[in-house]
Amino acid sequence: MAIIRDRKENHISIGIKEDVQARRVTTGFKDVFLIHRALPEIALQEVDMSTSFLGHKLSAPILIESITGGTKKTRGINAALAEAAETLDLAMGVGSQRVALEKPQLAYTFQVAREKAPNIFLIANLGAPQLVQGYGGKETQKAIEMIDADALFIHLNPLQEVIQPEGETNYKGVLQKIQEIVYSVNVPVIVKETGAGIAAEEAVKIEATGVKGIDVAGAGGTSWAAVEYFRAKKMKNGVRERLGQTFWDWGIPTVASVVETHQSTKLQIIASGGIRNGVEVAKSIALGASMAGFAMPLLKPATDNTEKVLEKLKIFIHEFKIAMFLTGCKNIEELKSTPVVITGKMAEWLRVRGFNPENYVAKR
Ligand SMILES: Cc1cc2nc3c(=O)[nH]c(=O)nc-3n(C[C@H](O)[C@H](O)[C@H](O)COP(=O)(O)O)c2cc1C
Repeated sequence: MAIIRDRKENHISIGIKEDVQARRVTTGFKDVFLIHRALPEIALQEVDMSTSFLGHKLSAPILIESITGGTKKTRGINAALAEAAETLDLAMGVGSQRVALEKPQLAYTFQVAREKAPNIFLIANLGAPQLVQGYGGKETQKAIEMIDADALFIHLNPLQEVIQPEGETNYKGVLQKIQEIVYSVNVPVIVKETGAGIAAEEAVKIEATGVKGIDVAGAGGTSWAAVEYFRAKKMKNGVRERLGQTFWDWGIPTVASVVETHQSTKLQIIASGGIRNGVEVAKSIALGASMAGFAMPLLKPATDNTEKVLEKLKIFIHEFKIAMFLTGCKNIEELKSTPVVITGKMAEWLRVRGFNPENYVAKR
């Protein structure tokens, strides 16, 4: 258990001190254009960013992604993120709750999220490898009740597991387990990646288990291979260090993953992985996502205080509002049907994979 706690603290300190962003693979947002309306014919003040996600109202389609929990220090991070989410009426996920299932006296480090944010859409979190190793409906329901969650994230992280020294590399039977969980818990289940994206083929299989959504967490933002590279370096593990370098840029770009999952299922799609401003949130919604999520950009502010998190989120929200104004969209429904031009590498990716990038051009 102490190993898991050390690992979590390491992830946080590496995330803050080192550059663990993808280097060669990019999210693909630079290939995605919204059409500028020189005559928006609306007033900025009347832009309505509110939306609803799985029946819950949000002031804007923004999610604070699962980051942490499990230690005293990470309790503070969850508290700051939750206070900001409550103030701004945004959704939030907590980090993997495995540690608190195994050591219930650490539950308070996650429960603080609900204490500080009694009204938000809050998402519990467990990893697929733990399900394969035996966690079932009972343990999962416990994680949900621990924070009075509105939904459950089951995270997929095969890339991280194969690179970290203590990785759990058995992914056999994960789909079956997801299905079992879907039928035994009392909240909607959302499957999320952690920075390497989800392809159409997996999305179709995931949909068949009865889950309600997918958070793509695509490539182009935080690279878990990079995080593990820095851990391996510290542990003087040369082989793992090399693996971290080799797989640093592994994964499906976020834009490709959003389009693939959205066009091949009827699920709610969350765009995440390298989302770094409000314009990318707008592009995500126009591509079919229901929300867009931020993890790394909020980590450092959350280790400072709630004010810093609020500052950052308010900028993203303001940028998002301006992007809606400049595309002449008064509300989220209009943004969903605003035309999008996909060029370059992303257009090529989508064509090669059998999707039509031009589908988005003449939406309205
Ligand atoms: C320090 C840190 C810890 C994370 N821990 C978890 C976790 O416990 N569970 C999870 O599902 N995702 C976890 N993630 C992944 C994020 O939720 C997100 O999918 C990923 O970082 C990509 O988003 P980004 O590019 O905005 O950082 C973590 C991310 C960071 C930066």
